[in-house]
Amino acid sequence: MSVCRMFGNTRHQVMLLLLSTLGWMIVAVTQSGAVSRCVDQACSPPIGNLASGRTISTLSSCSLLPHLCPEDVHPPAHMTDDPFLHPQTWWASGAGSTATQEQPDEIRLDLETRFCLSHVVLVFRSPRPSAMAIERSADSGKTWEPLQLFARNCSAEFGLPDDSLCTSRYTSATPCSGGEVILRTLDPSSAETRDPYSAATLARLTLTNLRIRLLKSQSCSAPSTPPTGRTSPTASPLTSTSTSENTTYAIFSLLAKGTCLCHGHAEHCVPYNSSQESQQDSNMVFGRCLCTHHTAGDHCEECAPLYNDRPWRPANGSSGEPNPCQKCECHGHSDSCHFSRRAWLSSGGTSGGVCDDCRHNTAGRRCQRCRHGYHRHLSLPLSSAHACTRCRCDQHGSLPPRPDEEGPWCHPRTGQCHCKPGVGGRSCSHCLPGYWGFGDKGCEPCVCPLSCDPNSGQCFDRWLLSSSVATFFAKH
Ligand SMILES: *[C@@H]1O[C@H](CO)[C@@H](O)[C@H](O)[C@H]1NC(C)=O
Ligand SMILES: *[C@@H]1O[C@H](CO)[C@@H](O)[C@H](O)[C@H]1NC(C)=O
Ligand SMILES: *[C@@H]1O[C@H](CO)[C@@H](O)[C@H](O)[C@H]1NC(C)=O
Ligand SMILES: *[C@@H]1O[C@H](CO)[C@@H](O)[C@H](O)[C@H]1NC(C)=O
Repeated sequence: MSVCRMFGNTRHQVMLLLLSTLGWMIVAVTQSGAVSRCVDQACSPPIGNLASGRTISTLSSCSLLPHLCPEDVHPPAHMTDDPFLHPQTWWASGAGSTATQEQPDEIRLDLETRFCLSHVVLVFRSPRPSAMAIERSADSGKTWEPLQLFARNCSAEFGLPDDSLCTSRYTSATPCSGGEVILRTLDPSSAETRDPYSAATLARLTLTNLRIRLLKSQSCSAPSTPPTGRTSPTASPLTSTSTSENTTYAIFSLLAKGTCLCHGHAEHCVPYNSSQESQQDSNMVFGRCLCTHHTAGDHCEECAPLYNDRPWRPANGSSGEPNPCQKCECHGHSDSCHFSRRAWLSSGGTSGGVCDDCRHNTAGRRCQRCRHGYHRHLSLPLSSAHACTRCRCDQHGSLPPRPDEEGPWCHPRTGQCHCKPGVGGRSCSHCLPGYWGFGDKGCEPCVCPLSCDPNSGQCFDRWLLSSSVATFFAKH
């Protein structure tokens, strides 16, 4: 079997894996057109090799043992170079060091944020390990959890039955070279697979770090040609002068297929932080989502500031429903709102947004009324920046503000001020009919059978009264 065919097979397997377990992702990749795939439906960024463009570290790497290996001809980066462009390159454990040869080794990929892992494919140049663990961390390496354990004898190595967590698949020493190890994060037959954005599925898919522990090596029993015999006649001199024949583990390629984590709300991702902007690897899978559906956050894990009228939800991967965030009605007086469970319940589960910091002297859950001391300017729409105007109240004729109030108060809709006894008018600026002597105590009732002059208190006769009332209404 030639190296090329070996990789051809790997690719074939990978494609089958994709089609069976993650068809939704492939659909997302192939449908890329001019129109955003996120319009009115769940969407996902393309999948790629999370290891591309990132540093792979190993326990035996030369960077840890520089004095032992001034020159590492099989560095960890050779696992993630393009297998089609560089089929003859591999990583070899224990570079330049004999001390580490019989010791376990570890391959580690540290990601800068959370990603979704769909599957891992390793192609060994050495015989596959007889015991190995593929583990992930979702908290930047603080805690680890096995995704899959591999052992020729699960009960002997891990004290586990040979079933889902531990498997004896992919642990045979043969083929001596070119053996694969494949891990899928989702069981294609399980219900979880149908909605890749559900909480249960994400709990299985998300990771910040991947660790492959090579625990026990084995020698290849097949009395076949040595591994170099597999390389093509045109192999580089580097291959033939290699000292890797005795290395415990050697790996041609490591694929850690996955996507940026966006909960079905984005189809593109950008570098997680600016230090990655200059990254030249075009295959790199970036970690910060360009969110749609009015979502926000590095992973579209929350609603955009003015879109908290409903609780955030992931898109539904099985029905394709986008589950977008809903805009709050703040009448243009606020740029953000928060979700209130109480408001949600009292609206019967239709609207729970409460506008934050209403501007333009507005107040209320939707900035729909004027704040204390202001009233509606009735000829302007509610959305106008001048919809609320300050109460204009005569300081002599209106009641003084209470100690906890900052200024005069008027009716929020009509603008009517609170007048002292006997005082009238919208701003409490004059005496009511039948009262006189406008001043700091209000107005006094006329001591007449009918009415009196508002200034002097002098009683009117019947004729004068009607004329004075006429004057009053003409003035106001
Ligand atoms: C950017 O990401 C790298 C890891 O890729 C990390 O070491 C660095 O601290 C990050 N910088 C900022 C400013 O977040
Ligand atoms: C696995 O190991 C256990 C204990 O070491 C042993 O009893 C058992 O026979 C082994 N199974 C196989 C299939 O080799
Ligand atoms: C491989 O190991 C054997 C015995 O452990 C040793 O004799 C041989 O020289 C080693 N070969 C290389 C290329 O290091
Ligand atoms: C997603 O859609 C499917 C099919 O319409 C439905 O059965 C399922 O309950 C939905 N999931 C959620 C979390 O709403």
